[in-house]
Amino acid sequence: MNQDIHAPFYSEVNRLNFVPGWARTTPALWDSPRPHFKPAVWRYAAAKAALEKSGDFVPVEQAERRNLIMVNPVQDNPYGTSRNIVSAFQMVKAGEKARSHRHSPAALRLVVEAEPGTYTVVDGARVDMAPGDVVLTPSWCWHGHANESDTTSYWIDFLDVPFVQHSEAMFFEHHPAGFEQITKNGPSPFRIPAHEALGPGNDAKTVEIAKGMLPTIALHLIRLPAGAQRPVAKTTVNNLYSVITGKARIRIEDGTDETITVGDVITVPCWHAHTIETEGDMTMLRVSDEPILAKLGLMKSAGSA
Ligand SMILES: [Fe+2]
Repeated sequence: MNQDIHAPFYSEVNRLNFVPGWARTTPALWDSPRPHFKPAVWRYAAAKAALEKSGDFVPVEQAERRNLIMVNPVQDNPYGTSRNIVSAFQMVKAGEKARSHRHSPAALRLVVEAEPGTYTVVDGARVDMAPGDVVLTPSWCWHGHANESDTTSYWIDFLDVPFVQHSEAMFFEHHPAGFEQITKNGPSPFRIPAHEALGPGNDAKTVEIAKGMLPTIALHLIRLPAGAQRPVAKTTVNNLYSVITGKARIRIEDGTDETITVGDVITVPCWHAHTIETEGDMTMLRVSDEPILAKLGLMKSAGSA
């Protein structure tokens, strides 16, 4: 009844683009994180089969976009794999080149299958790509991919595009030369082979790689021996995992229970305690938005907020 009497007031404030705080139907604040994104898994075998088919009709001119984006299956999400990071499976066929470009989002890739002759040119430096390598292309670095081997190469891209879209600080440009020429050879700080970073052995070990090189993304290599069970606390960090060698069973507090193998990707949104379990020896890459939360003072875990 009251609403009716005051209807002219409400329509007038709405016309002025105000929403009265006392009349909101959805809350703006809540007592602890309510992640919109949900746990989800994407299989490398399925991606590879679909990419192989797409190679028949997606032309080489679009090779840099011949990828399958892992879109978290929640409402109103057109793109992100997790809140701040998007992940995609990419294929570059033998003899192909994906044109060079650069963008404000930071990117990295985890190589799944590639024969010698597969490389990325990052700001003129040739960066070779082999299975288990993490290859970085920080914000605004030129990058183009080439496959001079005689077999198809596959890798997993991770970018902070959802975060950059949210901030609206998006910039992108194509390289004027099409594919950037190689001007530098030799070792590159942008190539991090997982087995070198972890060193020999099969003991439980976690190594942070590329620290500070990507301001929004943290990368951790995790090695666990057979029969391990590693708990991961309930925090505000959004995690993605991909297996490099072996298999991992991921059990999440919402009941999700998935075993992932080489090249598979699982996303575990914030505020989900989970465990990583192994049967045999296993190595994996954890990709997270921890630096964003840490820099903004939003790193919290259950009980610490
Ligand atoms: Fe790119």
